Amino acid sequence: MMPLLNEYAKQAEILPRMEAEVYQSIRDWVVAEIDDKLVGMGSLLIMWGDLAEIRSLVIDPAYQGYGIGRAIVAQLLDEARALDLPRVFALTRKPGFFLKTGFQMTRIEHLPRKVQKDCVFCPKFHSCDEVAVIMPLDEAAAVEHRPDLSRSNGTLKGQPVIPLISNQQG
Ligand SMILES: CC(C)(COP(=O)(O)OP(=O)(O)OC[C@H]1O[C@@H](n2cnc3c(N)ncnc32)[C@H](O)[C@@H]1OP(=O)(O)O)[C@@H](O)C(=O)NCCC(=O)NCCS
Repeated sequence: MMPLLNEYAKQAEILPRMEAEVYQSIRDWVVAEIDDKLVGMGSLLIMWGDLAEIRSLVIDPAYQGYGIGRAIVAQLLDEARALDLPRVFALTRKPGFFLKTGFQMTRIEHLPRKVQKDCVFCPKFHSCDEVAVIMPLDEAAAVEHRPDLSRSNGTLKGQPVIPLISNQQG
């Protein structure tokens, strides 16, 4: 797993992953193999009782465009559903891919747990070039994250506002 993760981390497409961190989270990962060759992977990190994040989704360049990314995302979403997690999000520089797989744009301000757990420690916090996308998996989450174009352009431009965390919101 590490060569592919390291290569995309070098290109700043994903955050760097330490080998120890990958071992410790190994049960969170879905990998794709073709003829015993590992060609892609992604992980689902449970962030709270109502929220999970898709992380480190990478497909070997030689195997991109064949539906492997979509298949890994589908399996990670199935796992979230099986665990009754109503919302799955990703921070990405490839929002187009996620929109194709059914995610919708959101704003990082709608994910305060992510902001408080990770973003505030990130050197790029105030100049983040990633876009937040979300997949509501139940009706309440769908209503909560209903696209509101008047207040959300789906980008992270400007300084994020950190709302107070309630037990109902991730
Ligand atoms: C982004 C990535 C995971 C997509 O994986 P993939 O296996 O090539 O994607 P799929 O073949 O499953 O594509 C599914 C759909 O998304 C579209 N798509 C793929 N990459 C896209 C992109 N960058 N922008 C817009 N649409 C994209 C495909 O055209 C396809 O659409 P279709 O169903 O209409 O044909 C892969 O290109 C990759 O590993 N990129 C580098 C690492 C990266 O940026 N990871 C995302 C970090 S969150």
